[in-house]
Amino acid sequence: MSLQPASTPQQRAGQVLGRLAELFEIGRQAGTNRPGLGEGEQRAHDLVASWMAEAGLAVEVDPAGNLIGRLPGSDPSLAEVWTGSHLDTPPDGGMFDGALGVVAGLDAAAAIGAGSVRRTIAVVAFRLEEGCRFGRGVFGSRAMVGDIEPDEGDLLDADGVSVAQAFAELGLGRLPTRGWADPPPACFLETHIEQGPALASAGAPLGVVTSIAGMAGFDVVFSGSRGHAGTVPMSLRSDALGAAARFVLAAHEIARSIPGAVATIGRLVTLPGATNTIPGRAELFADLRAPDAAGLDALVERATAAAAEAAAAGACTAEVLPRWRYEPVAMDPATAAAVRRAVTGLGLEPVDLPSGAGHDAAIMATAGIPSAMLFVRSDAGGISHAPEEFTGADAIALCAQALESALRELAA
Ligand code: GLV
Ligand code: MN
Ligand code: MN
Repeated sequence: MSLQPASTPQQRAGQVLGRLAELFEIGRQAGTNRPGLGEGEQRAHDLVASWMAEAGLAVEVDPAGNLIGRLPGSDPSLAEVWTGSHLDTPPDGGMFDGALGVVAGLDAAAAIGAGSVRRTIAVVAFRLEEGCRFGRGVFGSRAMVGDIEPDEGDLLDADGVSVAQAFAELGLGRLPTRGWADPPPACFLETHIEQGPALASAGAPLGVVTSIAGMAGFDVVFSGSRGHAGTVPMSLRSDALGAAARFVLAAHEIARSIPGAVATIGRLVTLPGATNTIPGRAELFADLRAPDAAGLDALVERATAAAAEAAAAGACTAEVLPRWRYEPVAMDPATAAAVRRAVTGLGLEPVDLPSGAGHDAAIMATAGIPSAMLFVRSDAGGISHAPEEFTGADAIALCAQALESALRELAA
């Protein structure tokens, strides 16, 4: 693969897609498997670090294990411009989520070249963005802004490995307790696949994010009574899965009744998990999102009440354990305007849209760092967090050019 910045937009798109395909092979099963703070993510960080070094960027690994490649600007006294995303994936994830923002950022930095803008441009790969491994994500960006909970090291993955253990096994030492984005960057621009159908429906390859949805995650544990599948009359059962099933449907209904809200129960475990034993315990994780704070408040409140109602209706009890909450956050108008100008400069109509997915940009924005996002059309019906995730080379070529020109303006 050529190490020099490729010259035409098509060549650059080819290089970006080639690199994404290489990353996709790491932990490849049906899709790619690069759990945050795990071996696959580390291999991806090592590979991207080698590409950064080949492109002449100064490579650093920060105290959270985030990878940073710096393209020096001509005036080191000025605050930096950051771009990037993450390299971890959910189980059997796709080729573009996260990785596109890092690889496209590197492509743009290489195209811009050292010393040709005043501000240093830093390409960042944040650690553990996906919340699925430990039930809490956006670790690298939260660490950077000093937002790691004191007991966060104790969170366990499905194999019983803790965050602290996974972190130490990567040779990163102890979890950072203080942030270090000080002085903060001038701005952060994250490029990301849309992960939904809006841009494709609008016939637009690129979009500019206006805001990132609020979201709350909690465990719900339903407790009932185990019993023999053949001997306990239906009227005498306390079936925890029955209660959980009522809750799942209620949460979906509640989300449908709140504009823009969504509710996902993507993980459900029953105990003891035997085919001929009434489940005495059912544990699930509820991921609730809404575009505004009032919607999120209503969703959380009503879903919490629904857990108690579902438990009572099934002669069980329910315990609701809040795990995280991120407030909805607006993107910075000035940084987003630069992205919009870059899109318009390509002769495209800029499409503004909100993000329902969480992103490191939400953490940066919440910490007061002016942040914006460039979205790239999702093909394949907008499917994401799945191997089918896809964006065509035409949109990638436009994304490369738009990101480069937005960064040139922001770092000028
Ligand atoms: C990140 O992929 C999220 O859960 O929104
Ligand atoms: Mn994701
Ligand atoms: Mn992502």
